[in-house]
Order: sequence, then C-alpha cells, then structure tokens
Amino acid sequence: MEVIIRPGAGDAGNLAARLMGRSLRDKPQIVFGLATGRTMARVYAILVEMHKTGGLDFSLASTFNLDEYVGLPPEDAQSYRHYMDAHLFGQVNIDLRNTCLPDGMAVDLNAECERYERLMADRGGIDFQLLGIGRSGHIGFNEPLSAMFSRTRVKALTPETVEQNAVQFGSRERVPRHAITMGVGTILDAKRCVLLATGLEKADIVAKAVEGPITSMVSASALQMHRRCTVIVDQDAASRLEHQEYYRWIFQNEPEWEPYR
Ligand code: F6R
Repeated sequence: MEVIIRPGAGDAGNLAARLMGRSLRDKPQIVFGLATGRTMARVYAILVEMHKTGGLDFSLASTFNLDEYVGLPPEDAQSYRHYMDAHLFGQVNIDLRNTCLPDGMAVDLNAECERYERLMADRGGIDFQLLGIGRSGHIGFNEPLSAMFSRTRVKALTPETVEQNAVQFGSRERVPRHAITMGVGTILDAKRCVLLATGLEKADIVAKAVEGPITSMVSASALQMHRRCTVIVDQDAASRLEHQEYYRWIFQNEPEWEPYR
C-alpha cells in the first residue's frame, strides 16, 4: 500500500482522475471498478472534462460498480445507476451495454449476485478499482465484520452508514436498509486499487484503515494486503496519520509519481 497526500480535496480527486485517464489510455479495453458517493463526483467531473477537452476515449472500456441499493429501480434519482448515468456515463462516449451495476430489483437477489461475479470473471476481472471509504470503514457496502474473502452479496447497512447517506435521501427513513455489494474478496481481486478519501470526517477511519491492524472491523484495512493499492488523501483526511512525512517523501521521490508532482 502507498499513501499519497495532496493539499486539497480538488488536488486529490484530480490525481485519482489522472491515474484513471492514464490507465484508460494505456489499455482502451480496460475494465474499471467504480464507486459512487460525494467524494467520487469530483473524479467523474474531471474525467468528463478530460473526455470533452482532451479526447479521453471510453468507447472500448467496461465498468462494474461496487454496489447498488436493494429495492431502488434504475430511474430512482437515488439509485447508483442514476448517479452513474448523471455523473459519468451520460457525458462520455462509453457504450452503455458495457456499464454494469448489480440489479437491486432482481427477484432472486442471490442469483443476481452470482450472475454479477460471473460477468466480472467473463470480462477478465477488474483492472482498476476506484474506492471510497465510509465512516464505518466500509469499501463498497462491506460493513464491519465483512469476511476478507467475501464475494458479491446482499448486506444490511449499519446505522452509521444510513446516517451518512440520509443527506441524499432527505431523511434516515428513506434510506434503503440493504444493498448488493461486491465482497472484500472481490475487491482484493482487482489488479489495481485506488482509494480516495477527503475531508476531516474521514481522518479517523483513514488512520485506522492505513496504519491500524488488518481487521474485518475495518473492511478497508484489508487493502493493506493488496499488491497494488494507492490511498489518495487530502491534507484533512491525512491529519490523523502518524507517518505523514514518510508518505510525502514517497510522493516526492518515487519515479512513478514524477509526472503527477
Ligand atoms: C458507494 C461506495 C461507498 C462510498 C463511501 C464514501 O458506491 O462504494 O463505499 O465510497 O460510502 O461515500 P462518500 O464519498 O459519499 O463519503
């Protein structure tokens, strides 16, 4: 795992978007794993800009989203399909048939989870997984005690996550209690993971995930075991990390980061 600290949330989102843009240019048939939420909106806005002004070409790319609420149809403004169409898919030249999310309306949810795993495997797996982190430490909707080897399945949201997402729904009561989510094991199978976290409200959980013990109480800590995981944080989200100086040194000195400095 490596940690990159950027001064502000805009810089952090910009770096994540540039890494995605570079990966897409290197491999036009790339398979992206995608996240939703407030943090990612910034990344998608930059990717849209890169498409419109820099010709970034999504025509051969495929995407798999991490999760979708159970019981929300795609046309519901709070569904993740709706979010992705609005923030990214509807604004770039991606083939919508190559954009995949779990179907939260499926009659047989377990069969849907198995189908989703098969579909990812058929496309050769995820090349680049973009991740956010919830205040409960979740990645996707893998709430505390999610098994490290878990696969796509239905999970209940924690009260903390319901609270975190209530803003978008207008009230706690409207937030669905369940979601289909890729498992921690599914995420760890991605060839590259990039976790983006910004803001003071994420500082405690980022410190636990990055510098704390690997524990299923903090699903994101599983990323410490991943072969190629980059955690990008702004100064606020980094503020509880003990080894900030070391992380800054890495960014200044590792050749990989030279084009981004
Ligand atoms: C959603 C997802 C979640 C979010 C996390 C952070 O698809 O994967 O894990 O990334 O809840 O959400 P924000 O960015 O809204 O704080």
